Amino acid sequence: MLSILIVDDDPLIGRTLMAHLTEKGYDVILSPSGKEALEILNHRQPDFTLLDVRLPDIDGLEILRQIKEKDLRTSVVVMTAYDDMKTTVEAIKLGAFEYLVKPLNFLELDLVLEKMGRIKSLETKVNYLLEEKQKEYTIDNIVGRSPQMREVFKLIGSVANTRANVLIQGESGTGKELVAKAIHYNSPWKSEPFIVINCSALSETLLESELFGHVKGAFTDAVTETRGKFEIAGKGTLFLDEVGDISLNLQSKLLRVIETRDYMKVGGEKILRAEARIIAATNQNLKALVEKGKFREDLYYRLKVVEINLPPLRERREDIPELVTYLLEKINRELRKNVRIVPPEVMKMLVEAPWRGNVRELENVLTRAVILARGEVILPEYIFLEPEAQRIYGEELKPLKEVEKEYIQHVLWKVNGNKLRASQILGISRPTLDKKIRQYRIVLPPEV
Ligand SMILES: Nc1ncnc2c1ncn2[C@@H]1O[C@H](COP(=O)(O)OP(=O)(O)OP(=O)(O)O)[C@@H](O)[C@H]1O
Ligand SMILES: [Mg+2]
Repeated sequence: MLSILIVDDDPLIGRTLMAHLTEKGYDVILSPSGKEALEILNHRQPDFTLLDVRLPDIDGLEILRQIKEKDLRTSVVVMTAYDDMKTTVEAIKLGAFEYLVKPLNFLELDLVLEKMGRIKSLETKVNYLLEEKQKEYTIDNIVGRSPQMREVFKLIGSVANTRANVLIQGESGTGKELVAKAIHYNSPWKSEPFIVINCSALSETLLESELFGHVKGAFTDAVTETRGKFEIAGKGTLFLDEVGDISLNLQSKLLRVIETRDYMKVGGEKILRAEARIIAATNQNLKALVEKGKFREDLYYRLKVVEINLPPLRERREDIPELVTYLLEKINRELRKNVRIVPPEVMKMLVEAPWRGNVRELENVLTRAVILARGEVILPEYIFLEPEAQRIYGEELKPLKEVEKEYIQHVLWKVNGNKLRASQILGISRPTLDKKIRQYRIVLPPEV
């Protein structure tokens, strides 16, 4: 039940409103004076407050000011006289949700309250989701006890509370985005947006307008004005993924924004302020790019105020068993399965594989295994490593037939079980492929 505080010194209006709103199903509290209203507000937080601005003891605007100052969670509707536009404007400026002119029109009042109710329920949902998100990105969700990962945790902890720009470097799938989110969601700005922009996916012009926004008519397709990611991120985090792919031209623009904090939309003239913290990530060696003249050295130093280097998985194999347990739990939850038993020979395979695709590849391999598993156990035949991994792992020298089987199986999984495409890639006919699938008892990926 939503609660409403009515603040009005006129007993007749107070009582009429109370009767009407109680009938509408609200939990109503009535206060005839400003002083009493403030006391009530200090003790309980009604969802809404209907506030008369003309009170004998305290000015209604002053009450509004205090609500704002103490950050009380009540949405305020002020009741003003029809000729008092100055107070009305002031009240809205102070953060009142809406104003109603006296004498009140109950129909109008009901509509306003309904609208506030809808917003309230959305706010509750958003806050819930935000909390869930924050839980998802606590440090506990980054697995690893190896010395290299301990170093990473330390850095996350010390950088989270600052506004310093961070550069995260690491091979593909090492957890760069995960670390960026952990920094954001452990910072005092965790309720502000975390905005991702993939710098390699967009052309220079598009990337520029994604970052800074553009005004209407800035270029042929600019039919409306847009907000850039810098603006959307506000005081939150702007995550520049694959930062090594930004063109030199755009690099200088980005450098200027970082240095001056000022920028303009593409085609715009108004100066806007960039307040977001920048976390950049790359799987390239930025220093080498600087040496080759492909990345500006000054920008490089501006981005790597703090540098986090994520180690490849093959350099911290001691973390693999714990990662397997963690990832299996996550995958089981997503797929509603219960595959938890990893026999020692399977764990050995997993610990020894080369993992060129790092944790992401491990997660993919385990996902396939969970899909294939009938019971609770992961059998060795459910583990599909990249062909190269298979060559390096285990009995290096295999009969041709076995390699053929593994390779056909690999191709089939790569094309999601599309036999026509597989036969084209393998250069054999469909009937031959079918024959080999039967002969080798090849496991096909599940239908999608
Ligand atoms: N230490 C870790 N603990 C738990 N999960 C991890 C860890 N590292 C990575 N992951 C998981 O692996 C997957 C890949 O991580 P992420 O997307 O952060 O990697 P990335 O470095 O950004 O990769 P890419 O360069 O391919 O974009 C994600 O599902 C992430 O949750
Ligand atoms: Mg990534």
